[in-house]
Amino acid sequence: MEKVKLGIIGYGVQGSTYARFLIEDKIPNMELGAICDIDEEKLLNAQTNHPGIPVFSDYISLLDSTVVDAVVITVPHYLHPVIGIDALKRDVHVMCEKPAGVYTKQVKELIEYSKIKPEITFAIMFNQRSNPLYQKVKEIMDSGVMGGLRRTNWIITSWWRPQSYYNQGSWRATWGGEGGGVLVNQAPHQLDLIQWLCKKPEKVYANLKFGFGRDIVVENEVTALLDYGNGATGVFITCTHDVLGTDRLEILCDNGKIVIEDSRRAVVKILKESENVMNEKYTMGQAGNGFRDVFENGFYDETVYEFPSVWGEQHCNTFMNFAAHILNGTPLIANGEEGMNGVRLASAMLLSGWLKKEVDYNFDDDLYIEELNKRIKEEGKYPTI
Ligand SMILES: NC(=O)c1ccc[n+]([C@@H]2O[C@H](COP(=O)([O-])OP(=O)(O)OC[C@H]3O[C@@H](n4cnc5c(N)ncnc54)[C@H](O)[C@@H]3O)[C@@H](O)[C@H]2O)c1
Repeated sequence: MEKVKLGIIGYGVQGSTYARFLIEDKIPNMELGAICDIDEEKLLNAQTNHPGIPVFSDYISLLDSTVVDAVVITVPHYLHPVIGIDALKRDVHVMCEKPAGVYTKQVKELIEYSKIKPEITFAIMFNQRSNPLYQKVKEIMDSGVMGGLRRTNWIITSWWRPQSYYNQGSWRATWGGEGGGVLVNQAPHQLDLIQWLCKKPEKVYANLKFGFGRDIVVENEVTALLDYGNGATGVFITCTHDVLGTDRLEILCDNGKIVIEDSRRAVVKILKESENVMNEKYTMGQAGNGFRDVFENGFYDETVYEFPSVWGEQHCNTFMNFAAHILNGTPLIANGEEGMNGVRLASAMLLSGWLKKEVDYNFDDDLYIEELNKRIKEEGKYPTI
């Protein structure tokens, strides 16, 4: 196999974008193999846009057809684990869109199944992990040079979505069709990155607003506090109603600070001696060994990293890595198993917001389903889980 033949399951906004990337040859080690959608009109569009490419109206037929080596799952989130398992069962490699699922129990099932088939590639589209800026920050954090984590602070409010966005699909922004709002649809990238770069929190407290300035029932305004243990904390703020959105991440550690703006520019300040040492060593007001001398003599080194962030390039690079893993075992940028972290953190925030109290990161999976079902029932549009 020289190129991986990719089947696209779900020819909506994202699936059709991926089909375009493939026919424009933006992913050199992949080619378009088939397209599936349950919507007739979408299938007709697919046939018009990609003559000669086989189309399927149900994904099982696509998986059984053997015309593809791999699939990308670009359907509403509840279906990601179900389709993922069906593909793995048939030895078809899986690129799952984010989020890995809506609730932790279904993602666990997918991960457990993937372990039965270690020879089949299971990856997740955390495209922002392939942004060279985040790769650089990951390298710095993993090197240990920053020392112990003290605080993370991410304000990511650049996910502006007008009402018309929510109106374009009946599943969007519903409990039963989508399973949540900004935490489940837009912020999964940052919920993944914050854990990939730093670590998993132990406890979560969130203040959520549902339908803030929009006619929707799910959360679109979130302020969450993370407790990492040992005194380290985090603040995570996201929303979809800030048209002047901000994207700023600060990571404070014992040995310095990293500030990332707009996912394009990182200022990395590394202390010449750790804050713990400075605290022990310097006395306020004493000449020679005083507080003022520390600041006058320069107490940190600063490096600025800037990388242009090209939206589609990240997705293409993630696909290229997925195909390279299938073809020659290149390590994955985002292993499917790691999809659990984002779902767990999003769900912990939702559970905390619903219960109005701090919850454990490793909350009770069944309690989550119980609370989600209450909302699905109240909404009255979809069957409960
Ligand atoms: N990584 C990213 O940057 C990114 C960006 C946008 C969307 N996404 C993800 O992609 C997924 C789809 O989002 P979208 O915006 O394209 O939604 P969409 O509503 O535009 O498209 C979903 C498509 O799936 C089809 N579909 C539904 N059930 C199906 C089934 N059982 N079998 C086959 N097709 C089925 C629908 O008819 C629709 O055409 C979501 O999970 C979303 O989180 C990821």
